[in-house]
Amino acid sequence: MPACAGDDMENNETKKPERKQVLLSGIQPTGVFTLGNYIGAVRNWQKMQDDFDCAYFIADLHSLTVRQEPAELRKHSKEAFALLLACGIDPEKSIVFIQSHVPAHAELGWILSCYTQFGELSRMTQFKDKSQQHPENINAGLFDYPALMAADILLYQPDYVPVGADQKQHLELTRTIVNRFNGLYGDVFRMPEPYIAKEGAKIMSLQDPAKKMSKSDTNTNAFISILDDPAVIRNKFKRAVTDSETEVVFREGKDGINNLMTIYSVVTGRSFDDIEKEFAGRGYGDFKAAVGEAVAEELSGVRTRFNDLMKDNAYLEECYRSGAERAARISQRTLNKVKKKIGLIV
Ligand code: TRP
Repeated sequence: MPACAGDDMENNETKKPERKQVLLSGIQPTGVFTLGNYIGAVRNWQKMQDDFDCAYFIADLHSLTVRQEPAELRKHSKEAFALLLACGIDPEKSIVFIQSHVPAHAELGWILSCYTQFGELSRMTQFKDKSQQHPENINAGLFDYPALMAADILLYQPDYVPVGADQKQHLELTRTIVNRFNGLYGDVFRMPEPYIAKEGAKIMSLQDPAKKMSKSDTNTNAFISILDDPAVIRNKFKRAVTDSETEVVFREGKDGINNLMTIYSVVTGRSFDDIEKEFAGRGYGDFKAAVGEAVAEELSGVRTRFNDLMKDNAYLEECYRSGAERAARISQRTLNKVKKKIGLIV
């Protein structure tokens, strides 16, 4: 295997002065990512590979907290892994793996759940929301989800964790666990900081710009899947809900236009000022067509790479196996340290 950034991460004890900052994040394999996942997360993950030692994983164990069709879960996990690569996550620069392939996650997850309070888990808004959505399956895993997420994070001793708004509370709880654990046993875990991306944190529905873009929306015009074909993408933008004015300006109350401007700005790298000038006096029709075109173009490379990867099963498997090996080496070190500290025989 060629020398890669991940090896620095693995050797950070011997090469301390050169240690690059470590960044880690995960995404659940619940179907093809939306433009929202792409702009809000994965596109930034790709860019951060040059500045940090990165680890990215498919959080398949977290998906089990909601009942899954086994064949679908397997398919989605493989697709999600291929999508990360298709979006430019480089398996030689970064450690890319599937969570369940690295047993230390489940092991540390159990240990940390013994350092997490019932009251703390009860206050998590995601738990409350999901319990309402699935009243027939409020399982212990759903409740304990944040302890597993804390384990995911702390095993790699990251400096930063990019998370969306909906996961901030879980990261806060992780920080509480670090304080509690380090308070009892000394400096075991590095305190992780949230990483807030500069741009495009939140992409809204194209049909109801007051709501977040979601792949589970019943109206498929509300979201762009990153594998939609170009004609579909153009069409969805053509139908995007805006307002009854005509001016392309970023302003409070113009949620639909603000969302389209955000998307256009992220994808083209241009400022709102620039965009307003370009579309002055031209109306929404032209603007929506331009956004559709820019997004279709940006995603066409992702689509091609994804289709090629899905044809090369051997390569994909080699990538996730070797990613898991590298992840296991790092995480095992943290897990052993934890076990020793708390009194397990290692
Ligand atoms: N809970 C995250 C989500 O649903 C996914 C996730 C699992 C994660 N473990 C993580 C994200 C660790 C960041 C760090 O989006």
